[in-house]
Amino acid sequence: MNTAFLTNKKLWLAPLAGITDFAFRQICKNCGADVMVSEMVSADGLIFNKNKSIAYANFEDYQRPFGIQLFGSDPQRMADATKILLEKKPDFIDINMGCPVKKVVARGAGSALMKNPKLAAEIVSEMKKMLNIPLSVKFRAGWDFEHINAVEFGKRMAGAGADIICLHPRTKSQMFSGKSNWNLIEKLKNAVKTPIIGNGDIASKNDVEKMYAQTNCDSVMLGRGVMGRPWIFREIKNNLEINPKEKFAIIKKHFLLSIEQKGEKKAIIEMRTQLHHYTKGLRNSAKIREFINYCYDKNEILKAIENLFEKV
Ligand SMILES: Cc1cc2nc3c(=O)[nH]c(=O)nc-3n(C[C@H](O)[C@H](O)[C@H](O)COP(=O)(O)O)c2cc1C
Repeated sequence: MNTAFLTNKKLWLAPLAGITDFAFRQICKNCGADVMVSEMVSADGLIFNKNKSIAYANFEDYQRPFGIQLFGSDPQRMADATKILLEKKPDFIDINMGCPVKKVVARGAGSALMKNPKLAAEIVSEMKKMLNIPLSVKFRAGWDFEHINAVEFGKRMAGAGADIICLHPRTKSQMFSGKSNWNLIEKLKNAVKTPIIGNGDIASKNDVEKMYAQTNCDSVMLGRGVMGRPWIFREIKNNLEINPKEKFAIIKKHFLLSIEQKGEKKAIIEMRTQLHHYTKGLRNSAKIREFINYCYDKNEILKAIENLFEKV
């Protein structure tokens, strides 16, 4: 399976539920993200309530190469859901085996699959039967510090047919705390021939270079480092710093796109989290975030943010 178009030193935008929606991905693509993944889509949701769930899998051609991320725990249902997703003609399908959220883990999906490598391998091989595009798997270091199994687990997923492996080397118990253990990415890279996407704590060009140097991984994936900083892709690729004026222009575009796609009221409410990320760390920004929480006027919100960036 040819995966070079996804794995040859590419910058991946991590799937971030609630953040990397259509509008944000459009912005990240404009800023230089190479590979993008949908927010996670439930296999059961696709099968039992297709119209609602499939909305998360929507994308447009300019977002390619584009993968749709699926979560679930039943091999046959995952294969059936894959078949539904293929209608969208994605470039690859990704399996979420790392989500630590209670609701997902309680159903045996997400990071719970790391406790059941046999089932995880069955899911991979059932889904592979449906696919002639690459299948990637994304998982963590292990369940907790007593059960670190990323390398063994990765070998097993590669053996079952995974074409790409993405490792976020924190345990499920860590959630997002502490530091990710890049040594595991290096070990996994040495243990399998499958291309590896290194993920965890990348927030600058320097981090990208360190990740490649330390682990020899094939591509890198950026998550929280992009929240409130989609321009990071441009900064990494062009080795420059985006100035405050350009930053505000990107934020404005994001906000207006969101309104165009979701309607004004919904976009204003859903953009609050993103605007909080955009303004974090700026002088006197706490007051502005409070204001944004209650304001429903897009022009007033934009003016307040522009003022903040003018003072940087
Ligand atoms: C708000 C948020 C939502 C996330 N949603 C998903 C998701 O839907 N699917 C997934 O595989 N990982 C998800 N993750 C994990 C990220 O994709 C990534 O693996 C993790 O944040 C580590 O990378 P980072 O240190 O660059 O943030 C999420 C993380 C955050 C913070």
